[in-house]
Amino acid sequence: MSDAGKRAAGRAAAELVEPGMRLGFGTGSTVEHFLVALAERGIDVAGVPTSEATARRCAELGLATLRPDEVDGLDLAVDGADELTRDLALTKGGGGALLREKVVAAMAARFVVIATPGKVVERLGDTFPMPVEVVPFAAAPVRRALEAEGFLVDGRNHGGRDVETDNGNVLLDARMPGGIEDPAAVEARVEMLPGVVASGLFTDLAHEALLGDDDGTVTELRVG
Ligand code: A5P
Repeated sequence: MSDAGKRAAGRAAAELVEPGMRLGFGTGSTVEHFLVALAERGIDVAGVPTSEATARRCAELGLATLRPDEVDGLDLAVDGADELTRDLALTKGGGGALLREKVVAAMAARFVVIATPGKVVERLGDTFPMPVEVVPFAAAPVRRALEAEGFLVDGRNHGGRDVETDNGNVLLDARMPGGIEDPAAVEARVEMLPGVVASGLFTDLAHEALLGDDDGTVTELRVG
């Protein structure tokens, strides 16, 4: 995993921001570089953070934050990804923030993913599992439904305790050996299961990706 590449991607995304923009602030180690670079620019912007961790980081950096109900929409959301395909389907939620990340991405006129080239895969869901956020009551039946689809499912826990999301839910990590053939269909099906609040598949949200390499170069991927 390359910090120089993440830094290059984060800094390139910060250059896309114009004064007065309403932003979406993603979550994770790549977004950390974006936030730092944005704060250094010292321009007048505000954004909706996608996690309590990002909200705290914004406060430390002096970046103004907003709630979703305070804006009609967002000009630009910037977030990381755990995996992406060349047509910009994503797996997100390695940091557990998938629900708010999806809400914020869907609010944005432009959603830019920042990542490193090593995260680009042919098929999602094999090397990195698809996170699914579930209300605790539904965890067992949702697990069984995912297993019936061929997923290998683990409940996410830390030190033997279920990880609790910012929304008070739990997470299932579902891996598909060989990868997910039709991520859009799986995203739709999984999100229809009673008790699921979000899947970590983001198949129709990203407009572009900035891939930062170790040497500081940034390559752009666009849909279409
Ligand atoms: C957080 O829940 C995730 O979706 C992150 O955006 C994703 O895990 C990428 O994180 P890094 O930038 O730390 O690799």
